[in-house]
Amino acid sequence: MTTSKFTIILAAGKGTRMKSKLYKVLHKVCGKSMVDHVLTQVEAMHPDEIVTVVGHGAEAVESELGDRSKFVVQEQQLGTGHAVLQAEPLLGDKEGMTLVTIGDAPLLTAETFDKLFAYHRDKGATVTILTAQAPDPTGYGRIVRGDLGTVQKIVEQKDASSEEAKIDEINTGVYCFDNKALFSALHEVNNDNAQGEYYLTDVIEILKARGDVIAAYKMKDFDESQGVNDRLALASATKVMQKRINEQHMRDGVTIIDPSNTYIDVDVKIGNDTIIEPGVILKGKTVIGSDCVIGAQTRIENSTIEDGVHTLSSTIEDSIMRAGSNIGPNSHLRPQSDIGEGVHIGNFVEVKKATLGAGTKVGHLTYVGDATLGKNINVGCGVVFVNYDGVKKWHANVGDNAFIGSNSNIIAPVDIADHSFVAAGSTITKDVPFHAMGIARERQTNKEDFWDRLPLSKSDDWK
Ligand code: UD1
Ligand code: CA
Repeated sequence: MTTSKFTIILAAGKGTRMKSKLYKVLHKVCGKSMVDHVLTQVEAMHPDEIVTVVGHGAEAVESELGDRSKFVVQEQQLGTGHAVLQAEPLLGDKEGMTLVTIGDAPLLTAETFDKLFAYHRDKGATVTILTAQAPDPTGYGRIVRGDLGTVQKIVEQKDASSEEAKIDEINTGVYCFDNKALFSALHEVNNDNAQGEYYLTDVIEILKARGDVIAAYKMKDFDESQGVNDRLALASATKVMQKRINEQHMRDGVTIIDPSNTYIDVDVKIGNDTIIEPGVILKGKTVIGSDCVIGAQTRIENSTIEDGVHTLSSTIEDSIMRAGSNIGPNSHLRPQSDIGEGVHIGNFVEVKKATLGAGTKVGHLTYVGDATLGKNINVGCGVVFVNYDGVKKWHANVGDNAFIGSNSNIIAPVDIADHSFVAAGSTITKDVPFHAMGIARERQTNKEDFWDRLPLSKSDDWK
């Protein structure tokens, strides 16, 4: 018979040390909230049930995690032991093993949880504590071992004697318990300590006194166990996560020129043989294909970049760039831009809610907003799609193989047909039909012999 596995995630604390309006576990590390990181790793070991203890910001945390977890509310934050006890109505009478983990340790992996479970089973323990050797143990609970190295108890920083404070083996805040023993011991925990809290860590001594087997599994990598209590630790956890993400992409065949200056969110996907230059930021649900060059200082958010795309110093938001297209330097795709295959977008071009068909070129200093452009169109320099009348946005259409001369204004709503031509400098307010040239500017007149009537003709500089 396989033993049932349960998980309790503690996420009710306010996170006073963050000095934030946002609840601690909702702070993000590489684009994902800390508590979501924890839940994602927990899900990967397929427990039979997941219960998250919420309190401060309960609604916000519940909506962040949705139906991926069950929730119990801890009305008052009386300590980690009290927090776990709130899960008793859901789990208390069940046979099995329970992983208790904390919502503010976002770097822990499913692999570590699995190893903890395996060690726990091997030792036939009632509880196994996940511990680590800390370079600086300040702030953590310390693992007090007796003769023969057996674990006696966990002492919190604030309750530690000066001898105990020297111990550098710390409690990561993660444990594997025999489920029933956990809840029965929790009823014996009191709050007679420096913080006046019901400590989950006191369960260890209680079980020890009952003669149960207490085990400790020491993980190798302290970094992975880091708890985040303030913004300094948030930055440090982000560095570790960033390194982990970048190394995985490199193993999968992505070239990252300078990993310490490349910022990729955890859910971003990148194809092999893509090259990422320094200063690149890839956020949210971005997906990048193979053989792309994501050039220096590009920022891409929630966008799809197909194979063979080149970008340089540009910002791309909620958009798609199809195969072989390119952009930059210094251009901006705002939401709902659909850039067709092989499209060229050059310097200082802004595109918003617009579709550009395959092979179209928008090279320089142009705004394309609320427009549908067909294939193989050339948009000259300095063209403005005038989409806004101060009240409403209007749409413009340009057909395949049209040519839009430089410095034109295309005042929507308007249709410019396939194979038509807009003369440079035109302000287009009426449709341009197939094979026509739209020209909408004052005809040039030359005033003969005008020079002598100009003030500059009197100036020495122009003689
Ligand atoms: C806790 C451990 C400490 C360990 C450290 C690891 C205890 C008493 N101490 O200390 O041994 O080294 O984690 O990072 O357990 N929470 C609740 N309700 C509460 C109190 C806390 O849900 O009433 C949650 C918090 O949201 C947080 C987690 O429990 O996610 C840990 O609480 P925190 O106050 O940060 O504990 P530490 O002092 O860091
Ligand atoms: Ca903590």
